[in-house]
Amino acid sequence: MKIIFLGAPGSGKGTHATRVKTELGVPHISTGDIFRENIKGGTPLGVLAKSYIDKGALVPDDVVIKIVEDRLAREDCQKGFILDGFPRTIYQAEALKKIAKIDVVINLVVDDEAIVKRVAGRRMCRCGETYNVAFLNGSDTCAKCGGKLYQRDDDKEETVKSRLDVYHKETAPLIDYYRKEGLLKDVDGSQGIEAVYADILKVLK
Ligand code: AP5
Ligand code: MG
Repeated sequence: MKIIFLGAPGSGKGTHATRVKTELGVPHISTGDIFRENIKGGTPLGVLAKSYIDKGALVPDDVVIKIVEDRLAREDCQKGFILDGFPRTIYQAEALKKIAKIDVVINLVVDDEAIVKRVAGRRMCRCGETYNVAFLNGSDTCAKCGGKLYQRDDDKEETVKSRLDVYHKETAPLIDYYRKEGLLKDVDGSQGIEAVYADILKVLK
């Protein structure tokens, strides 16, 4: 199954894509994670991406499209995949159409006020797990691997506001785009994590 997770920053794309990946046994491709790995590794792509990500802006379309095209050409993507954070512009969606035939687009619906709270409380582990201080009971270590949790550089309040603006301007038009294609499924992402996940599984069955 070829799935897109669409939604504002902090809507829960990563949280749920990680679980669906295990459920379906298909790769989870997050363009944001790919950029963060490259930033950590100090690669030329990482240096370029950081100059945009730190401002809450989008990395240029052609750079992202090339990365996704190469990733989707790999053997493990032939039976299915989950795209998280791509496409993010109509231009990217048009490019993707030429690369793969998508089965479903899950749109996680969460209002901006809840987003700002969630993102401010988000903590990450190097192993890929995502947490929120609201559920950590004061702990700062990963329950899966014991790693020390950290905050993403682009989760500062000002940057989050820019990311939300960019989302409304550039990415939200994809909701209508995929609705017209008959692929869009709205999921109420403001519920508790388990309820959101149950709704996603219903859509996928
Ligand atoms: P990216 O990493 O994709 O960031 P994003 O879209 O802003 O999304 P987030 O990762 O912030 O949120 P999420 O939806 O994954 O939420 P999460 O599950 O973590 O991109 C980063 C940057 O890279 C972009 O700004 C851009 O510069 C660049 N980039 C990436 N892709 C690009 C592209 N295609 N084109 C151009 N540039 C690109 O959840 C958030 C928090 O909420 C967590 O703490 C979680 O525990 C909590 N939470 C989740 N669900 C619930 C729930 N139901 N109830 C309570 N808490 C919850
Ligand atoms: Mg994410």
